[in-house]
Amino acid sequence: MEIKEAKTRVEQLKKEIEEHNRAYYELDRPRISDREYDELMNELIKLETSFPELLTPDSPSQRVGGKPLAGFQTMHHREPLLSLGNAFSREDLKAFHQRVVQTVGWDVEYVVELKIDGLTVALSYEDGFLVSGATRGDGLVGEVITQNLKTIATVPLKLSEPVPVLVVRGEAFMPKKAFLELNQEREEGGEAVFANPRNAAAGSLRQLDPKIAASRQLQVFCYDLVYLEGKDIKTHQEVLEYLEEQGFLVNPLRLCTNSMEEVIAYVEQWTEKRHELPYEIDGLVIKVNSLDQRRVLGATSKAPRWAMAYKFPAEEAETRVKDIIVRVGRTGVLTPTAVLEPVKLAGSTVSRATLHNEDYIKEKDVRIGDRVIVHKAGDIIPEVVNVVKEKRTGTEIPFTMPENCPECGSRVVRLPEEAAFRCTGGACPAQLRESLIHFVSRDAMDIDGLGPAVVSQLLGSGLVQDMADLYFLTKEQLVKLDRLGEKSAQNLINAIEKSKSNTLAQLIFALGIRYVGARTGKILAEHLGSLDRLQEAREEDLMQIPEIGEKMARSITAYFQQEHNLRIIDKLKKAGVNMEMKQVAQKDVLKGKTFVITGTLPTLSRKEAQKLIEENGGKVSGSVSKKTDYVVVGEDPGSKYDKALSLKITVINEDELFRLVHSGKK
Ligand code: IVH
Repeated sequence: MEIKEAKTRVEQLKKEIEEHNRAYYELDRPRISDREYDELMNELIKLETSFPELLTPDSPSQRVGGKPLAGFQTMHHREPLLSLGNAFSREDLKAFHQRVVQTVGWDVEYVVELKIDGLTVALSYEDGFLVSGATRGDGLVGEVITQNLKTIATVPLKLSEPVPVLVVRGEAFMPKKAFLELNQEREEGGEAVFANPRNAAAGSLRQLDPKIAASRQLQVFCYDLVYLEGKDIKTHQEVLEYLEEQGFLVNPLRLCTNSMEEVIAYVEQWTEKRHELPYEIDGLVIKVNSLDQRRVLGATSKAPRWAMAYKFPAEEAETRVKDIIVRVGRTGVLTPTAVLEPVKLAGSTVSRATLHNEDYIKEKDVRIGDRVIVHKAGDIIPEVVNVVKEKRTGTEIPFTMPENCPECGSRVVRLPEEAAFRCTGGACPAQLRESLIHFVSRDAMDIDGLGPAVVSQLLGSGLVQDMADLYFLTKEQLVKLDRLGEKSAQNLINAIEKSKSNTLAQLIFALGIRYVGARTGKILAEHLGSLDRLQEAREEDLMQIPEIGEKMARSITAYFQQEHNLRIIDKLKKAGVNMEMKQVAQKDVLKGKTFVITGTLPTLSRKEAQKLIEENGGKVSGSVSKKTDYVVVGEDPGSKYDKALSLKITVINEDELFRLVHSGKK
């Protein structure tokens, strides 16, 4: 290929890949599969390798730097990154307003933004290219973490309209969902957990290997221009709009007003609604809009006089630890949990709180009988924050980890360098139970009606010995279980049947391979395309996949080396569980068939049933006619049922619908 031709193709690929990045990360709407994405990326990398002169620093191929960093350098910020003064009440905000008005007069406008609970980063661009990214450090000198920041897809590597120098300030953060998933994986993997999304984000950005940062689902919201030459901008609103135009992610949630009353109302509104956000905020930031007025107001050595951070009161509660019990997780990890005197906390009553592991208990010195402060990590998981030692009476009892598994009595071991204690019992019923609960959970095989109580019964009765056994249950067996009527049994059978056509990603996650979370399941499915290929993949093959590091790769290959796991997979295969990326069905098993649905179906909603039919090539019509092929009947059917009978149209129930769909999936 001639260089000219290569150049055109490289430009085209770069543009296309960045568009896909945007669709994937910002809009959450990928337009192509990961595999197709990889193909584009590989083509780009190949061309850049053959024609090194075409490799520019803004190339999307530079986002996931393969080389680990040797350590972090430091850099002086071009302008000091100031901190903010704090307000804790309406009165504090009014006093701030008074001070502003005294200096610049009554004609003042404020922009109110959410105060994202992450860490400040400064991104510097020269001639339009990202040249460095740094932490705030002490405000004057920060650590250079460019490689890690480059892995965040919403950080532009190149500005839309290049300028000689531009420095922007933003907040790097980890969304709540990513934080909870990460901690759950860490706990199961025997690693220390992060206290909150902020620490998790900071910890991820301080990793020397950029692959780790790349796997942590970080984001950056930009909110300030630190330095820009040669552009006349008058207000903060214009700054934010400009940043957006340049390709930065700017939080759309903000208010611009000249009324302090409205500022306060907005602050109160978000104090209430903060839990609805997908990321944590610890307050709001109130900023004077006019940049001229800002110059007049100036700054102290620490903070500008034109802005104020309103900090939410901490959502904590005090209660007493009645007991410390130990739960055994699906990988055998023992998690100590505090049983609390029930207490109201951030909108719910809490009676248990996680203590994570023995190190955590030791560090906080939590004892049975202690009065403790609890909060919700990631806004969801109740956690003991610290002990109110002044209130100790001397009767508190220190906790020690049991030497034997509380569920099966097997020896408990603590592996070197792990925070966790693990049960060594290969057939520990608690591990089996937890792995089944995981298998049927929403993001995994999503089997409705299989709650922990039924799982326990299935195990207790011996009907199920591993997850694959679920697929061989019969209705007759289920009705014999306590409290499981004929109807629930049938519903359960249908739900299990339905789960056979779940995605490969769901299945991979459901297997419970250590370190493989829902997102990793998706990545592996997209890249490998089938469970067979995952099983055959070597460690080094797996590590070629973005976001798959050594630890994860090792855990995956180890999983497939265990005889027991292979037996499960074999049984799942025999049961007809989907193990391919593309739905195994020829998409058109129901092609040319018209369906009418009437009555309430046991597990599917009307919409879901319609989707199932349409996804498999069938059509759904609202009324029965001679052209109708099947009428799907649920409880309390309408006149459509009578019409179907009179026209002698085949009537089927939900169960038969599933079977019809599956008939093409062998
Ligand atoms: S403005 C001089 N805006 O809060 C400008 N800060 O307590 C100062 N933060 O260090 C920052 N969201 O890390 C600003 N929308 C926002 C913010 C925000 C989060 C953080 C930032 C800063 C800290 C100040």
